Order: sequence, then C-alpha cells, then structure tokens
Amino acid sequence: MDSILVTGGTPLNGKIAIAGAKNAALALMPAALLSEEPLTLTNAPRLSDIATMTALLRSLGVEVTSMQDGKVQVLSSHAMTSTTADYEIVRKMRASNLVLGPLLARHHQAVVSLPGGCAIGARPMDIHVTALEAMGAEIELKDGYLHARAQGGLKGARVPLRFASVGATENVLMAATLAKGTTVIENAAREPEIVDLAECLRRMGAHIEGEGTNTITIEGVDRLGAATHPVVTDRIELGTYMLAPVFAGGEVECLGGRLDLVGSFVEKLDVAGVDVSETEHGLKVKRRTDRAQAVDVTTEVFPGFPTDLQAQMMAMLCTANGTSVLEEKIFENRFMHAPELIRMGANIEVHGGVATVRGVDRLKGAPVMATDLRASVSLILAGLAAEGETTVSRIYHLDRGYEHIEEKLRGVGARIERVSA
Ligand code: UD1
Repeated sequence: MDSILVTGGTPLNGKIAIAGAKNAALALMPAALLSEEPLTLTNAPRLSDIATMTALLRSLGVEVTSMQDGKVQVLSSHAMTSTTADYEIVRKMRASNLVLGPLLARHHQAVVSLPGGCAIGARPMDIHVTALEAMGAEIELKDGYLHARAQGGLKGARVPLRFASVGATENVLMAATLAKGTTVIENAAREPEIVDLAECLRRMGAHIEGEGTNTITIEGVDRLGAATHPVVTDRIELGTYMLAPVFAGGEVECLGGRLDLVGSFVEKLDVAGVDVSETEHGLKVKRRTDRAQAVDVTTEVFPGFPTDLQAQMMAMLCTANGTSVLEEKIFENRFMHAPELIRMGANIEVHGGVATVRGVDRLKGAPVMATDLRASVSLILAGLAAEGETTVSRIYHLDRGYEHIEEKLRGVGARIERVSA
C-alpha cells in the first residue's frame, strides 16, 4: 500500500491552483438525474470520490463521459435502467445518498442503501427521510435499504429541518425542482456548495430563491433541460493549502481562492498571526511571525468555522505559542488525528468533543497513519514543519479529496513523495 514521505523544514513559496469542490461536484453529479438532457460540469476535481459517484450513476444507467483529463464531465440520464443504489457502492461514500431526492422526483421511486450501520430515525439519514416524507414520499427501511415511493409525484411542502444538514438540504432542493407546487426549506444549510447547486439547477430551468440563506423557496417545474455549469472552488482544499506556509514558512498564493468562501477561517488565521491578502487571481498567505499564536476554534455550520478544516487547524496549533481549545460541534468522534499528532510530539488532551492543544516548540517526524480524509492531510501538513521525516500510511483517504497533492506541494518547494510499498 502507498504511503507519503514528507521531509520537514523547507519554506514554501509559489502558487497552488485550487481545484473545483469535491463536495459541490458530489451534489451536482446526481442533479443530472433530474433531466433527460445532458448536464456538463466544468472545473470538476479529479478524485476517487468522483470516480465512486460516477460508478454509482453508471449503475443507474447514466452515461458519464469524462473529458480533458476528468476536468469536464458530461452526464446524460436519457436512458436510465435502475433506481436502486446498491450497498456495494454506497458503503464507500456517504454522499451516495444524494441520488435519493433526484430519483424520487423524476422516477417517483428509489431504493437507496443506508451508508452503513445506522438505523432510520437516528443518524445519519433521518433528516433526509423526514423532509422527503413531508413532500409526500413513503419511505421504509428494509434489509438496510431505504425504499421510497411518491405515488403521483412529490408535492411542494413546508420542510423545516431539525438541523441544517448539508446533504438533506441538497436532497430536498433537488427533489423540489420537479415537485408539484412550492417547497420552502426552513433552517436550510447555507454552505457555498448549496449555492452552487442552486445555480446549476437554475441553469437547468429550476425556479429557486433564497439559496445561501436559511430559507430556500423552490417552485416546482414539469421538466428540467440541459445545462453547462462550472464547479465552485473547493474551499476546504483552499483552506488546507492556505495553511501550508503557516506550517513551513514562506509565502503561497492560492489561485482561485476567494475570501467569501473561507471568511471565518481567515478570521481565526488573523488572530493566529497570519496575513491573508486578496490578489488578482486568488489569496496570498504568509505568517507574520515565526510562530503562530494560539487561538480557540469551534466548528459550526457555514458561515462558521468548517469541521472539514478542524484537523488541519489543530495540527497547526500544535506548535503555536500558547494553549488553544478546539470544540467539534458537527461530528462526534472527529479527533482521530490527535493520537497521531501526539506521536509526533504534540501535547493534546481530548475530552469528548473538546481538544486542548498546548503548543510545543517543534514536532518531530514519525510514522503515522491516516484515519480519514482531513486527518490524513493534517498529518502531511504537520510533516512539512516537523524535524526529520514523516511517513503517512493509509493514504487512500487522501486521494478521495486532494488531487495531485504531492505535485501541488512539490510545486511550492515541499519535499514530499509517494512511496509504493
Ligand atoms: C457534508 C460534507 C462533509 C462535511 C459536512 C458538514 C459533502 C459530500 N460532505 O456532509 O464534508 O463535513 O457536510 O459540513 O458535502 N445528521 C443527522 N441526520 C441526518 C443528516 C445528518 O443526524 O439525516 C448529522 C450528521 O451525523 C452530522 C451532522 O448532522 O453529525 C452534519 O451532517 P450533514 O450536514 O448532513 O453532513 P453531510 O451532508 O453528510
């Protein structure tokens, strides 16, 4: 199995091009199920999660054509053969559940495997299910699969979400475009990926207002047509690479970066002693002093601090001056990177959803293990600043969300390579 070898201590200088957002693309691709006509996505990221979504859509009969080395994806759902999302694919990726809303809307039925181990009514699909039931769907759980039907089609409804779930908002948004009448999503998620999805659906002919606020109103239409849509910049990849010069020193410009995508993150960086400036093509980042300052971070729904940048931020704070407290409020058990960082010499104590990080002078390279996508990248960042060599194993997680990570970091001077076992 491949691993990544990072040798720390080299300052980073140059430009890194930020890709299209994984999480936006994973919602945009299922949107193609809503129309008989093709949906063309440009600026698509080249990632294994995209390959998994492609496999899932192909298993439903969607034609997916990849062009320009995967940067352009053309999806055509004119000859669908199935409305069942099989466990073998869904178990690999939770975002597979985003086919549920579109299938129900256009085909009035769907059978979608639960991502694994979770009962209906509890995590992780209860918000999706309750919302689609409010629109007239009948949904039951049988043999690990959600069996959903909407006889005569979905109906517009008032849909209050008990929590502003990103995936549930996306599923309902897509479903409501073809429902009869008006749907109002209350307590909707406001993430940029939702705004991107709404813009794409509008290009396909949907009537949507209010995306980016907590109330989204959708007027159902009879059919949606063809569209071409550029995937929004990946704000998590952006935030990750913005941190690279904070770890290693130097100055890095993230091409395609936008302040509105990373507002709360940039506020915390400012407190930590990091300068972020807008350039013609993106955002430039440089730390003001040799050592960052400690800062407290609580993860929240957008526009709050993103949970998907918490691991990277924690790794950075391991060598900051002072004590930082990180509170994880979106996911339970999302501190799996802490024990690995401790192996590199960090001083971290975790109690439930709160981690206390006491800054040490330096981290030391060590063999560490990636436990999930964002944890993996936090260990690579830590390796950039650590003394000596860090080997990160189980890096298949990384390939789910970071395209060409070694090339991008090598391009700004990092000493990093992929090693095949
Ligand atoms: C999306 C992102 C993921 C990010 C997360 C939070 C994609 C493909 N993934 O995931 O990278 O970390 O938003 O910003 O866009 N929940 C329930 N019941 C539900 C749905 C969710 O209890 O029916 C809980 C989840 O267990 C979790 C929290 O709500 O604790 C947030 O989940 P949600 O916003 O739905 O995240 P995802 O859409 O899965």
